[in-house]
Amino acid sequence: MVKDSISKIAFKTIQQGKSIAGLAHKEISSRIMNFISPDKDLNKFNLDKNLLYDIQISMNELREEDWKDSQIGHYPQKLLFDEPWLRYLTQYPKIWLDMPLTWQRRKKRDFNDLPKSIDKDNYPNYYLRNFHHQTDGYLSDYSASIYDLQVEILFNGTADSMRRRIIKPLKAGLDKFNERKRNAIKILDVATGSGRTLKQLRGGFSEEKIIGLDLSDSYLKEASRYISDLNGDLIELIKGNAESLPFEDNTLQAVTCVYLFHELPRTIREKVLKEFHRVLEPNGVLVLADSIQINDSPEFISIMDNFHKTFHEPFYRDYIQQDIDTKIKEVGFINVQSNSFFMTKVWSATKI
Ligand SMILES: C[S@@+](CC[C@H](N)C(=O)[O-])C[C@H]1O[C@@H](n2cnc3c(N)ncnc32)[C@H](O)[C@@H]1O
Repeated sequence: MVKDSISKIAFKTIQQGKSIAGLAHKEISSRIMNFISPDKDLNKFNLDKNLLYDIQISMNELREEDWKDSQIGHYPQKLLFDEPWLRYLTQYPKIWLDMPLTWQRRKKRDFNDLPKSIDKDNYPNYYLRNFHHQTDGYLSDYSASIYDLQVEILFNGTADSMRRRIIKPLKAGLDKFNERKRNAIKILDVATGSGRTLKQLRGGFSEEKIIGLDLSDSYLKEASRYISDLNGDLIELIKGNAESLPFEDNTLQAVTCVYLFHELPRTIREKVLKEFHRVLEPNGVLVLADSIQINDSPEFISIMDNFHKTFHEPFYRDYIQQDIDTKIKEVGFINVQSNSFFMTKVWSATKI
């Protein structure tokens, strides 16, 4: 009991420290940017006292939820303390070195500054861009090597806590397959990126077969390094497009997808949802996580508005307004539920 209380205080203290570091980094870097590379159409975001208060409350609720789920046993407590500090330490200077390039692209409204070596025919058009002004888009080892920390800073150190919100609905959904051996259950994480979600999933599902799929070779290589020391069966990594998954119909028991939908045009979002439905077997569970949306998080509208103005996120505005619940039902899922946690909304649904 005492040990738990101390662990909880330690967890919250580390999380608060990360939040302060994230906020401080953003404040300092945006001041420097306004000085060096002012842009009168941008940089007007004002984090007023009320908004800061709402952010604190919401982050605290997220931490409570995260702690509670670990206490219930959805994942081990040690996952809450699993911070790659050494990795952050090596990534942080790179982030500062990269910033002037990002500011330049942003000022020039240059969203197509991609490595010359890539074969553009291998990727859909919507993908061939510098999302969030990211150097090389998703298409270089360099981009993959700093992505994690960039996301961590963007979310004030809460990214993994938010990713972990997929575990509870996933467990509830997979209850339907309780009579099967756990290693016969297949969980596919689509748009897996550099492996952070896979690590959280392995924490919650130690025996199930986990597969990560992404379009970027570089991000998959980074994921492979990041998850290489995990216990449990080797996680399989596959290069592929969410629009045409390399799986037979009705073959998977679970599909997860974290932070992809806001980077897809509406028609592709719908196509990808159909694909999730196709590969899941009846009773299979879909758990999606992405940005909060306007309707359920009105207190954060200014943040959402700023996000799509400040970062290059051409499909975000449409995403935050789309009724995804209805779309999920339209492609054939039932039991559609959704819940928001700080900056992330999580949907779960069952295939009939
Ligand atoms: C914002 S990142 C999210 C990564 C990861 N899920 C996470 O939690 O950090 C979006 C990822 O989606 C991948 N992606 C984008 N479009 C895709 C598509 N059509 N098929 C597969 N992956 C895609 C990108 O390569 C990138 O790794």
